[in-house]
Amino acid sequence: MIVIALYNLKGGVGKTASCVNLAHLSASDGYCTLLWDLDPQGAAGYYYQTQPRAKSGVRKLLEKEMSLDELVQQSLYDYLDVIPADKSARKLDILLDEQKGSKKQMRQLLKQAEHNYDFVFIDCPPGFSVLADNIFEAADIVLMPAIPTTLSVRTYDIVKEYFEDKHLALEKLMCFFTMVDARKSLHTEVMHTLSADRRFFEHYIPYLSDVEKMGVHQAPVTAFAPSGRAAVSYHDLWTEIKEGIV
Ligand SMILES: Nc1ncnc2c1ncn2[C@@H]1O[C@H](COP(=O)(O)OP(=O)(O)OP(=O)(O)O)[C@@H](O)[C@H]1O
Ligand SMILES: [Mg+2]
Repeated sequence: MIVIALYNLKGGVGKTASCVNLAHLSASDGYCTLLWDLDPQGAAGYYYQTQPRAKSGVRKLLEKEMSLDELVQQSLYDYLDVIPADKSARKLDILLDEQKGSKKQMRQLLKQAEHNYDFVFIDCPPGFSVLADNIFEAADIVLMPAIPTTLSVRTYDIVKEYFEDKHLALEKLMCFFTMVDARKSLHTEVMHTLSADRRFFEHYIPYLSDVEKMGVHQAPVTAFAPSGRAAVSYHDLWTEIKEGIV
């Protein structure tokens, strides 16, 4: 089982859109896939038209009153299950902080899914937190979408420094560019500067209105417009990600 966490310190950079599409592509390949929405905004669960199965499910899971299985929902797609965020996800940080071995909780919980899934995709809220520390421990790949701007490069440096300070394996941290507007010289310049950085994938996701339409369709763009440019870009990125791991 490979755990891929879509993370960035910054908000609104395409974590959820990427998580939803990459999970769909993984399932379309026939990999048993779980998408776990850990962002209390619940957008990933919304895109998949799912509702939480239990009230305060995440809290009950942490307090060992429920198992991970009991939170899992089948999606409308073969091989793809979803754990939508419930309201208790808002307090996840505090709940985790109260636990013994508070940074290893998520890794422990994911062990319950080890034999059921090939890939687990986690949609993370932005920011540094106890939850983020847990995700960094549990993930095999911390996949960071970044808009190619100066501020994003700064954020990338801050995240890298955080990994170094906390003695986390920097090899886990992988990035790709998203919302790319090739007409903007700043975007192309930033991408060019970072092209030599081996933490960045070559394929990127352009700024495309099809991605924004995911909310209208409540579906991954790779499902409702599979031959469009957005789906093809996600497909190419997914192929590149897989090359390094399967
Ligand atoms: N490649 C893209 N092209 C155009 N719009 C995009 C693209 N990727 C994401 N968006 C849009 O940008 C907005 C933010 O994307 P998304 O919700 O995926 O970001 P996020 O990093 O998960 O945000 P948050 O930090 O709030 O969770 C959404 O409205 C989404 O539809
Ligand atoms: Mg999000």
